[in-house]
Amino acid sequence: MPTYRAWFAAQDDPDERYPLTEVVYYSRSGGLLEVQHDLEALRQVSAEEWKQLFERRWMRTSWPYGSGVWGKKEWVCPELDDANVVSMFEGGTNLFWAERFGREIGVEDFWIKMCGNSHTGSFKDLGMTVLVSVVKQMIGEGKPIRAVACASTGDTSAALAAYGAAAGIPTIVFLPRGKVSVAQLVQPIAHGATVISLDTDFDGCMRIVREITADPNNGLYLANSLNSLRIEGQKTVGIEIVQQFDWEVPDWIVIPGGNLGNTFALGKGLLMMYELGLISRLPRIACAQAAHANPLYRAYRNDWRYEPITAEPTAASAIQIGAPVSINRAISTLQRFNGVVEQASEQELADAAARADRTGAYACPHTGVALAAAIKLVERGVISRSDRVVVVSTAHGLKFSRFKVEYHEGHLREVVSTYANPPIELPPDIDAVRRVLDERMAAAAKTPAPPPWSSLATPGASALP
Ligand SMILES: Cc1ncc(COP(=O)(O)O)c(C=O)c1O
Repeated sequence: MPTYRAWFAAQDDPDERYPLTEVVYYSRSGGLLEVQHDLEALRQVSAEEWKQLFERRWMRTSWPYGSGVWGKKEWVCPELDDANVVSMFEGGTNLFWAERFGREIGVEDFWIKMCGNSHTGSFKDLGMTVLVSVVKQMIGEGKPIRAVACASTGDTSAALAAYGAAAGIPTIVFLPRGKVSVAQLVQPIAHGATVISLDTDFDGCMRIVREITADPNNGLYLANSLNSLRIEGQKTVGIEIVQQFDWEVPDWIVIPGGNLGNTFALGKGLLMMYELGLISRLPRIACAQAAHANPLYRAYRNDWRYEPITAEPTAASAIQIGAPVSINRAISTLQRFNGVVEQASEQELADAAARADRTGAYACPHTGVALAAAIKLVERGVISRSDRVVVVSTAHGLKFSRFKVEYHEGHLREVVSTYANPPIELPPDIDAVRRVLDERMAAAAKTPAPPPWSSLATPGASALP
């Protein structure tokens, strides 16, 4: 096999390059750095051979290639020593045919990529395995790194703390006080991270971590997604989706966006497949934002002119971000993918998550934002009912139990709980139990069963509620 190489390059000057093991986050002009690959070397292997290699490795135990990320190591971080890989077999998450949800909204070919079914319960594992592995290599080479640090809305800190703990590297996480779920808070605590809870929002935490990591004397390495090592792992999500469809490209991928690194990463992986000939067309991308934290949506509605905002509280707390770090590269991605941006109110995101749960998913609020956006785009005819649609589910619903409890108790802010299903409290009396069950079953029997897809002229055309 040829020798594969990758390096950091300045966005505005591709000749300004740095090794991936150098402690550097910004170009000389202050812009973000991107990871570039030697595409000529990668092209020496045919598209068919790449597909076969990726298939051979898919979910196998041969270290480290059974990981969804490291199975594509040549495309991700080729020069990393295998001995330095810190992996929990991330990636390879199921792509779930959401048949009943799709039927409800009138789209037969509707899928959910379950990125939350991962070691720390979110897609952040995809990027963190790469970053922490490179840090392990850097420390081995004698770089003066004492700890790895991040600001987080919850999931990044959980992933950093877990991968750092697995590697024996100290971690420091800055969290906005009272703005992350209990599960997200307890994860870094349990992994032994230094957890600093700041009385500010995510954007405020981000300012602090940028400043503290900028001073080389502190020996703290920055793990947020402005560090493009994270993007290299996260970009495998789009590649996996296509692979899971036997290398067919879906029509739409809908993804929730906060700091917008993941939107950029999704596009980056798909573009790499396109450039290396594994696919011959690109899907359209829809980025979904909470209406309370919607700077990208506002830019989209304003000829892509962006202004940072102060994000308001939202149940989708992990995307409560007003000044996204990856705004420019996310806009370029959406322009390249003929993309759109949609927003979801608190009511819309909570109802969409509840509807998905009733069809067997267990959607976190951010996935609720993406599902609500998909519903709106279908209703407006932007997404056609015959399209193949994939929603990226970014975290596990179990990390957001309070959101679920408050919804079903009818206590969620700004939300009328249309699909609430509270427990029925009864005395331990068999007649009382029988009466309630009879009522329930009678009500269920009156609900008409949905028609089979095959009986519909246009898939899903008459299936709208
Ligand atoms: C569950 C969840 N969904 C979506 C996002 C948004 O990803 P990004 O910040 O890369 O846009 C995040 C992270 O911020 C997250 O934790």
